[in-house]
Amino acid sequence: MRNYLAQLGNIKPTAEFKLITLLGEDLPGAVTVVPLRGNSGLSCNSTDTEQDEDKHAYRFSLAGVQLKFSAVAKPRGGLTIPAKGVGGDWIIKLPAQNYMHVPENEFAMMQLASMIGIPTPEIRLIALEDIGGLPEMGMLAGGSALAVKRFDRALGGRRIHVEDFAQVYNIYPDKKYEGVSFGNIANMIWILTGENGLKDFIRRLTFTILIGNGDMHLKNWSFIYLDGKTAALSPAYDMVSIIPYIPNDKLALKLYNTRHMQSISMEVFRKMSQKSQLPQHFVLQIVRDTVDEATTLWKENYRHFELSAHSLQCIDKHIKEIRL
Ligand SMILES: Nc1ncnc2c1ncn2[C@@H]1O[C@H](COP(=O)(O)OP(=O)(O)OP(=O)(O)O)[C@@H](O)[C@H]1O
Ligand SMILES: [Mg+2]
Repeated sequence: MRNYLAQLGNIKPTAEFKLITLLGEDLPGAVTVVPLRGNSGLSCNSTDTEQDEDKHAYRFSLAGVQLKFSAVAKPRGGLTIPAKGVGGDWIIKLPAQNYMHVPENEFAMMQLASMIGIPTPEIRLIALEDIGGLPEMGMLAGGSALAVKRFDRALGGRRIHVEDFAQVYNIYPDKKYEGVSFGNIANMIWILTGENGLKDFIRRLTFTILIGNGDMHLKNWSFIYLDGKTAALSPAYDMVSIIPYIPNDKLALKLYNTRHMQSISMEVFRKMSQKSQLPQHFVLQIVRDTVDEATTLWKENYRHFELSAHSLQCIDKHIKEIRL
């Protein structure tokens, strides 16, 4: 993505200030980055020529591994990546180049999450041919992309601030698997957002273990500030079952003393609650309820999800191995 953007902007991939200038109006949350006139070395101001504007056409400033673009809904269905101007209020996550059917997997897992009461943004699985303005990206593993409605943009494009937990803890993105445990996050959520927030977090954490999602690192959890100052957990995103691609994958962060999903028992949750000063009975009850609801809903619905036979088999096997 970095190389691709650098090519479009006609700059070096290592020119980070110039890259952020290109993307500065389409960042997550309510932050914008604009150059002081004349200081950036890059023509991003009103003296731009039409041709220069076209160079900063594509906007995809959201961090992460998969290729993604901001997009706007077309009046007659489908989505389009705007040719210029600030990106839209949808995110399109393209199929990966090496892992098969990630969009279908994420679509199914987000649907299951929503069924058990985890707040999720609106999502759609769309055929690549229904996306307007998609640049040539080479070979992609599958013909569908996942479209996710942005929760950091309100009607009329108003920006709603969000910050992920790497930002909250002042940790650099390349340390997103380190330094903080799920217990630490739970404690912060409990203190800042109370019972409702804690319930939501524990439910998501249990769901993460059940579906075998080893990638819920610090940047996959965010606070949202709907009124500009009160923190709440943002809607969930990036919920994918990783075990079809990486068998025996481990949790992204430690839960009490382990990352090994099959070793997590109620006792591990009890110890985590004790260590992180959480209300134990409350936490354990949410874990139990989530396991019951998620396993029942999985059994009732797995045939209806658009998952590959391989993913389906791996997830089903994994759920049965969890000892919660
Ligand atoms: N619905 C949304 N609304 C607003 N921001 C979002 C939304 N979904 C994701 N984001 C932001 O975009 C970033 C990248 O999205 P996401 O985590 O889905 O992509 P990814 O490439 O799969 O990431 P990873 O590196 O974890 O694999 C997130 O860290 C978050 O900041
Ligand atoms: Mg992510």
